Amino acid sequence: MNILVTGAAGYVGSVCASELVNARHSVVAFDNFSAGHRAAIVKRVKLIEGDIADAATVKRVCRKFRIEAVMHFAAKALVDESMRNPGLFYRNNVSGTITLLDVLVECGIQKLVFSSSAAVYGEPKEVPITEEHPLTPINPYGETKLVIERALAWYQHAHGLRWVALRYFNAAGAVGALGEDHRPETHLVPRLLDAALNSDRTFHIYGDDYPTPDGTCVRDYVHVRDIARAHILALRALPRIRGAVFNVGHGEGFSVREVVRGVEEVTRRTLRVEVSPRRAGDPAVLVASPAKISRDLGWKPRHSDLRGIIRSAWTWKTKHPDGYHRTRSAR
Ligand code: UFG
Repeated sequence: MNILVTGAAGYVGSVCASELVNARHSVVAFDNFSAGHRAAIVKRVKLIEGDIADAATVKRVCRKFRIEAVMHFAAKALVDESMRNPGLFYRNNVSGTITLLDVLVECGIQKLVFSSSAAVYGEPKEVPITEEHPLTPINPYGETKLVIERALAWYQHAHGLRWVALRYFNAAGAVGALGEDHRPETHLVPRLLDAALNSDRTFHIYGDDYPTPDGTCVRDYVHVRDIARAHILALRALPRIRGAVFNVGHGEGFSVREVVRGVEEVTRRTLRVEVSPRRAGDPAVLVASPAKISRDLGWKPRHSDLRGIIRSAWTWKTKHPDGYHRTRSAR
């Protein structure tokens, strides 16, 4: 199939583009490089530099490459930034996506897999979180993802769009030359590995007074390769699924302290750890129920054991101590 991957230079988008190529799809990688990395674009994809808000370019690309399906990753994704600059998130994630959807309609493209987030749930009222959980996001990032999920249902109704929205929990891990490198990096696993590699750095646990067994927050870590697999299964299911949301989570939670221990074991280094105040907006526990995606798409996490996630990310980190900075293109 000819597939357009927006945000293909980003963390999850790049891994997914690579797995699609491995599955013998023809991939057009589309990215404006505002946050993505050129070195994350794998060989055997066609690369187009552009912005989803530029309807003329997206239309030209869809027609030229006879695009049949779109995987839409391009988005602003740092929660903290969304709290400080909501306009940026509404412009990129909502306005940009609506422009993209209108192009899809115009070009007669009826298949879309959309990157959504557990952030659509907000503060969980019960765990594990099922797809029926109330949707009350507590930051603009989650709100913009929810706005698009709802728009997709209306595009389905009006234009026959077939779509799947995948609500990721905590993506982590690396696949070969592709790893996690956000600027600024706010995520737990890369920050811990940074502290493991640089013994002068202190890792800060954001709060140890949560109502959890060891007082630190519990999260559901999913290997990015398993997330990519969920996209491929979703795409395959689109002829029978008209529109649906799925959690992409492992169903098992680990506390920040457990992840710290995991990193110390895998790296065989002792970290300098300090407890700092809580980070605003962090729920105590976020764990998915994977029942629906397992039942409807046959998805099972294959690589998401915590040690395996950390090992893959550590291998990447030791080869790319400065992230993609100064690494040569993967092309
Ligand atoms: N943490 C620390 N120290 C750090 C970094 C993180 O203690 O230096 C803690 C956080 O407080 C949190 C846990 O590690 O308890 C995980 O934090 P991440 O930033 O890695 O991930 P989040 O759970 O905050 O965010 C993830 C996704 C978001 C999504 C959110 C859903 O990365 O995109 O889940 O609510 F919005």
